[in-house]
Amino acid sequence: MREIKFPEGFIWGAATSSYQIEGAWNEDGKGESVWDAICHTTSKIRNGDTGDIACDHYHRYKEDVQLMKEMNLQAYRFSVSWPRIFPKGKGKINSKGVEFYDNLINELIANDIEPFVTLYHWDLPLEFNKLGAWESREVVDAFADYARFMFDHYGDRVKKWITFNEPMVFAVWFYFLGLYGEGDIAAGFRATHLVNVAHAKAIEAYRDSDNPDGLIGTTLNLDSVYPKTDTSLDKEGAIILDGLLNRWFLDPIFKAEYPSDTLALLEKYFDFPSIPDEDLQLLKDNPLDFLGINNYTCNRVILRKPIKKTADFYKILLPKKPEKGVEVCDMGREVCPDGLYDLLKQVDRDYDHPLIYITENGIACKDENIVDKVVQDDDRLSYLQRYFEAANRAVNKGVNLKGYFVWSLFDNFEWTEGYSKRFGIIRVDYETQERMWKKSSLWYQDVIAKNGFDFQS
Ligand code: GCO
Repeated sequence: MREIKFPEGFIWGAATSSYQIEGAWNEDGKGESVWDAICHTTSKIRNGDTGDIACDHYHRYKEDVQLMKEMNLQAYRFSVSWPRIFPKGKGKINSKGVEFYDNLINELIANDIEPFVTLYHWDLPLEFNKLGAWESREVVDAFADYARFMFDHYGDRVKKWITFNEPMVFAVWFYFLGLYGEGDIAAGFRATHLVNVAHAKAIEAYRDSDNPDGLIGTTLNLDSVYPKTDTSLDKEGAIILDGLLNRWFLDPIFKAEYPSDTLALLEKYFDFPSIPDEDLQLLKDNPLDFLGINNYTCNRVILRKPIKKTADFYKILLPKKPEKGVEVCDMGREVCPDGLYDLLKQVDRDYDHPLIYITENGIACKDENIVDKVVQDDDRLSYLQRYFEAANRAVNKGVNLKGYFVWSLFDNFEWTEGYSKRFGIIRVDYETQERMWKKSSLWYQDVIAKNGFDFQS
């Protein structure tokens, strides 16, 4: 048993996102988002699930904040539904939507819980799909206007802002799955650049807003990438995949440039236009204050032959199942705490020691065993202990990590998996909306109280 202690002032929180928990999809003047449309009009979601009701947080936010307080949460990361504020994406403001987030933010602050607000966690106003979603500069400008409104209206109370959640997922993967626009993977990578432009414009708007005295950053999903074996091909593959998954997203926001090896690859296999200098200048002029990292797993690369054609490119990019015998979560992802440690070290080393928050980390578990109204999620507990320990090791090595948000506060709508995957540290019964503690949340409550825990290695 070893005592793990975090530095004073380390922030402990939990995260959610609007579409995954709010429900009230068409109430009080909210406009439709692409996710409303995906759920209502396609068959891409398991069991035909939708976020129409989800955790009904829109109506239950007060009691949910009480739950957070009881858990000792110091911060809560949530996202704002853009079409709740601007039903058509731009133009007319929906005052009822604005009021909902006013109430939520005020309730959090009254309970000493700091709001970390994500502006975009995938629920794009549906109107913008017609324009080509993130392939359109009109959408970029509308996002900057939406961000400006948010900073001016809530910035007196909100001091931590996150522009985007996981561009790799909502741009590249969603285009690839055909969830946005009519794109493909090349369209997805092209879209990531416009997302960066939108991010820089939002930062510019923040610095120019009425309350520019907080911190603004973005959230990327990043994974350590390892060669599966020591062969030079696997090592080359790991560099390529690290470029596509990590450096492609980190370099522009930290260095205002794209990694040349990754760019060359995209230009070789896809129709990839050159990037205007003024966009790069905009990124350079608008650096971020912190990086949010979402991390769940790691990647192991096998490259059997050098990349020669587009099909080889896809092969390296598309996720592979971990081998038999490897510990995986209910999503089939490898449990890999050392991957988090290595990733934090890599980002710290390559991007000049940035301020980092882990904005998401957690695990889907079956959660079938309930005793005395407590979910016996020992697998989640063990996962969190090992990941917290890895983060602590990185902090002790000097990484500027200042906070940790568990994904997720609640079981919720897990995108194409619907409600079939449970990520929460609080269980939600979707029939009754009853919230139930799990072993992991009871443990987390104690971790926060002590700013540490006893680790059984
Ligand atoms: C993401 C999102 C979350 C997910 C979580 C579990 O990473 O996909 O930010 O919305 O629900 O990561 O998969």
